Amino acid sequence: MNSQTEHANPIAVDVYRGRRERLLAALRAQGGGVAILSTAPEVMRNRDTDFPFRHDSYFYYLTGFTEPEATLVLDASAQNGEPASILFCREKNAERETWEGFRYGPEAARDAFGLDAAFPIATLDEQLPRLIADKPALFYALGTSAELDAQVRGWLAAVRAQSRSGVRAPAKAQHVLPIIDEMRLLKDAHEIGIMRRAGSISAQAHRRAMQTCRPGMREYEIEAELLYTFRRHGAQAPAYGSIVAAGANACVLHYPAGNAAARDGDLILIDAACELEGYASDITRTFPANGRFTPAQRELYDIVLAAQAAAIEATRAGVSFDAPHQAALKVLSQGLLDTGIVDKTKFGSADDVIAERAYLPFYMHRTGHWIGMDVHDAGEYRDADGPRDEQGARPWRTLAAGNVLTVEPGLYVHAAENVPERYWNTGIRIEDDALVTAGGCELLTREVPVAADEIEALMRESIGN
Ligand code: GLY
Ligand code: MN
Ligand code: MN
Repeated sequence: MNSQTEHANPIAVDVYRGRRERLLAALRAQGGGVAILSTAPEVMRNRDTDFPFRHDSYFYYLTGFTEPEATLVLDASAQNGEPASILFCREKNAERETWEGFRYGPEAARDAFGLDAAFPIATLDEQLPRLIADKPALFYALGTSAELDAQVRGWLAAVRAQSRSGVRAPAKAQHVLPIIDEMRLLKDAHEIGIMRRAGSISAQAHRRAMQTCRPGMREYEIEAELLYTFRRHGAQAPAYGSIVAAGANACVLHYPAGNAAARDGDLILIDAACELEGYASDITRTFPANGRFTPAQRELYDIVLAAQAAAIEATRAGVSFDAPHQAALKVLSQGLLDTGIVDKTKFGSADDVIAERAYLPFYMHRTGHWIGMDVHDAGEYRDADGPRDEQGARPWRTLAAGNVLTVEPGLYVHAAENVPERYWNTGIRIEDDALVTAGGCELLTREVPVAADEIEALMRESIGN
């Protein structure tokens, strides 16, 4: 095998085949039909330069195939040994491969990825009408892209054009992604293995950032240390735009690493993590640029840390998705009262702070989200079949072993007259990724310290560059 075709790991053919079989079984249970799933489009950035290509997560989940211009067709009505899993992909092309690198081509892709059949993507429009003719239903990403909707219209029109010869077009169209979302919510052993490795690489990157940071360093210099570590350990890309925020910038929730220099006495908030083999990690740490928390910083830091500990404690199979958030809110709200950031004379207890949402100016996001192939991963947060409450909201879904979610409380204190000055312009968030287990959760991202003393100890160890 030459270096162009070499995969870092063997292709997990059985894993992808198993997922296709489960999806096919779900489609058969709904009466059969044909599912069509395409990978992401290539998008031009500017003349002759594309944005880095990233496959579509749903397509990848079912194939493991990362080339652009590819479509998977799953025929849940296939009979008598007809192909059920069919890939359309780019043909071999010696000239294009000289410029852009290796492509499998249909035959090799079929064999390498365990599909029943494969054809050139250029024949998709010609073959799709044949594949969907006389099938009861079409399953696709309904109403998610004007281009896909137009393609489907074209394929249906081509089948309907043959109606005089007795060929029927599918009578039903159904959104396929929610079926796959439910599968994606429960991570299998293959996914968990990759997510553990992604978490470990991202943790190493945060350690390196802590150890190299000095007052005077610019945010982009610290970002460079993170990106270096991601790539150095084989991660393909950051899972999302890196947030490296010095001082007051940490109060901007999605602040991208910029030019600001970290001053002596500033906290630095880093929310950055890698994508490895199609899976995201998501870590936030907040630490002092000079290696020592001030007393006021430490007070707020320990409140956020205690909130995270409470949320982690509340993360286990069988409880509401909302339980970790409520546990964090309780600790944060008590902390806001204890520090006088929320006026004690107006709110008697943490429960009052929560009931009146008085925490909102200082904590305006939720405590977690699903994570998997996408950093904000697919899957519903509420039970669509549950009864609505007085506000019209459905009940939160119940955590199950195999769910992976983040636990990321924070406090963001702007300069404001009614807030004690020692806390002004302080943004703190602590974020880890948790795999739900029967009795609790496993944190996938804890190879970087989180306790203030441990962060300070790590920062005292210098790093040889
Ligand atoms: N990194 C984005 C988030 O924490 O949700
Ligand atoms: Mn997150
Ligand atoms: Mn994050």
